[in-house]
Amino acid sequence: MLRRFTLVLVTVLTALTGMGARTAFAKMTPEEVLALMTLEDKVNLVVGTLRDYVYWPEPAPGMPVRSQGPVEDSRGATAFTSGDVEGAAGETYAIERLGIPSIVLADGPAGVRIDATRADDEMTYYCTAFPNATLLAATWDTDMVNNVGAAVGSEAQSYGVDILLAPGINIIRNPLGGRNFEYYSEDPFLAGKMGASFIRGVQSNGVGATVKHFVANNQETTRNGIDVVVSQRALRDIYLEPFRIAVTEGKPMAVMTAYNKVNGTVMPENRFLLTEILRDEWGFDGFVMTDWWAEGSGDKQIAAGNDMLMPGTWRQYDEIMKAIEVGSLDIEKLDQSVLNILRAIKNTPTGAGRRHDNKPDLESHATLARQVATQGMVLLKNNDKTLPLENRQKVALFGNGSYDTFIGGTGSSKVNNKYKVNIAEGLESAGKILDPSLSQFYTKHISDYKADKPADDMWNTAVTPEAAISQEEIIRAANNNDVAIITIARMAGESADRTLTEGDWFLSDAERQNLVNITSAFHELGKPVVVLLNMGSIVDMTDWNDLPDAILHIWLPGQEAGHAVADVLSGKVNPSGRLPFTIARRYQDYGSANEFPHSENPATVYYTDDIFVGYRHFYHNKIAPLYKFGHGLSYTVFHISIIRDRDETDPDMIVVDVTNTGDRNGAFTFLSFEDNELRDNPTKQVYAPYELIGFGKTKVLSPGETQRLRVKIR
Ligand code: GLC
Repeated sequence: MLRRFTLVLVTVLTALTGMGARTAFAKMTPEEVLALMTLEDKVNLVVGTLRDYVYWPEPAPGMPVRSQGPVEDSRGATAFTSGDVEGAAGETYAIERLGIPSIVLADGPAGVRIDATRADDEMTYYCTAFPNATLLAATWDTDMVNNVGAAVGSEAQSYGVDILLAPGINIIRNPLGGRNFEYYSEDPFLAGKMGASFIRGVQSNGVGATVKHFVANNQETTRNGIDVVVSQRALRDIYLEPFRIAVTEGKPMAVMTAYNKVNGTVMPENRFLLTEILRDEWGFDGFVMTDWWAEGSGDKQIAAGNDMLMPGTWRQYDEIMKAIEVGSLDIEKLDQSVLNILRAIKNTPTGAGRRHDNKPDLESHATLARQVATQGMVLLKNNDKTLPLENRQKVALFGNGSYDTFIGGTGSSKVNNKYKVNIAEGLESAGKILDPSLSQFYTKHISDYKADKPADDMWNTAVTPEAAISQEEIIRAANNNDVAIITIARMAGESADRTLTEGDWFLSDAERQNLVNITSAFHELGKPVVVLLNMGSIVDMTDWNDLPDAILHIWLPGQEAGHAVADVLSGKVNPSGRLPFTIARRYQDYGSANEFPHSENPATVYYTDDIFVGYRHFYHNKIAPLYKFGHGLSYTVFHISIIRDRDETDPDMIVVDVTNTGDRNGAFTFLSFEDNELRDNPTKQVYAPYELIGFGKTKVLSPGETQRLRVKIR
């Protein structure tokens, strides 16, 4: 004991004398480093370095008045430059006296978000734009999602990013949710499993993952402060459940709190959820950060268990200092947050002293992006085997999205990628012959519209209004081509929900008119029409679903969009995606239709549908959807044999043999649902009729090939 005490004393003395101070962090435990930190060090560490240019809101009485304008952070760089990784979302405070480095945090779920170019630097810093989250979920392939996470984490490490601000795993509660494209599913089990897989992938590179937004960020309207009123059961079973799975199975380095309130308490100050549930019940041992510029006061956020305040403001710094001074915040709480952060920093590439080379493997990641995109596309409808196109070479390609394809959403998830392949280019590179008159028209229509618009940026993407194509042009196209393909595209982004308007939830007049006229003209000549849905969620399909012969949901498929669409349409890849959410016959059929905020800016949203979200609602209320959760067609057929269903040898396993009994290669996903009508229910509690409890995907099976799937049940 004496020897150990002496060793610690020598270590601390060495550090104190400054001989080893700069190496203290590298050589000492977080606890030992904490012992050397001043109060100012501690508060600097828990408040991000941005330190807003203006002290806002105005300082409370007794608070110091801060200077305006850029402030120097600990490394001498002006705040908001995010140090040497320009365009990153934020960073932590370096404490050079103790060798505590600043670490870099960057978005996002579809790829690393940093600036692609830097002043006075001839190098470029492009990142891969992977497919969006709903497409990843639609693959139902946790290994593939793990691979995407690993690739994104690898690019983060290459560019010096220590913590990735992803995945987003909030429940898709309503099709108008502005960030649905960034989330996985309406089902907590699928969302949690996908989140855990992505986290493990990211962290396999030593880069931290951040699961977000904890919890109940299911709408963007008044996101900064809207109060979500939800029952404890729905909170547990639906909204917390994905985070429980992701935290316990993915073990993320960080959790990001949501902006909103839950049952009256703003999330960064919600001690019950942050400490009693997240840490005490689930055993989360990483650190919790706020979302950027979240509401709430710094001292209450720390007290609740929100360890880091991002991107950091002097207001929060002063609130914490003042609270410690007057004793309303225990120093032990602050120390706990500091320890949580120090432990995390130690496990980051910068904390571990790893160098980065700014040379990510963009080529292999582009190949992966294309492969994943083909695996997540969902074939909703395919009458008379319209698809694959095979010998239909001449294509009449309609819709702005065919020529200016949306590859991702707007906001913090937007990636600065080097290129994108539009559907038109993808089809041409696959050998299809596009109708030249339509190509010229749409190309000009889009460039004319964009000519006087500002260039796209993080928050804004110019969306060209759809043009009504003349009857004459449509008839000409029908005569000159083998097939019509129409892309319906929708953009979405954080900070705003979508709206029940023409051109958003509903088709625009031009879109509807084109669809009617094109299907009529092509069907007149016995030629098929294919619709592609280029969006992260869905649009109203009520009165047009019956018109086309085939419908393929391509989501926001990332930078390799066109190649992936061509791979599926041509039959090179057999679509194996399945819907991660329900598509209703009409908007009013959704359980949240009436409560969702829509356009007004409510202070409160009531989750009156309780546990009946998504398919749980449709089954419970016996409402027939247009396309059900888990729906997805294939170009081949499969036979399923149940070998074992949770028998005494293994009560948590379902074993099935999947045989490809068709004539084309294809992969199959087996889904298993609990039938709650059969469960013992002595308390007569109301349950959702069915709940997803397991799933598994085969490899690509050749015709006649069988694979035995072992599906672990939750
Ligand atoms: C944004 C988003 C969050 C993102 C963060 C940093 O407002 O809500 O998802 O990670 O700020 O960009």
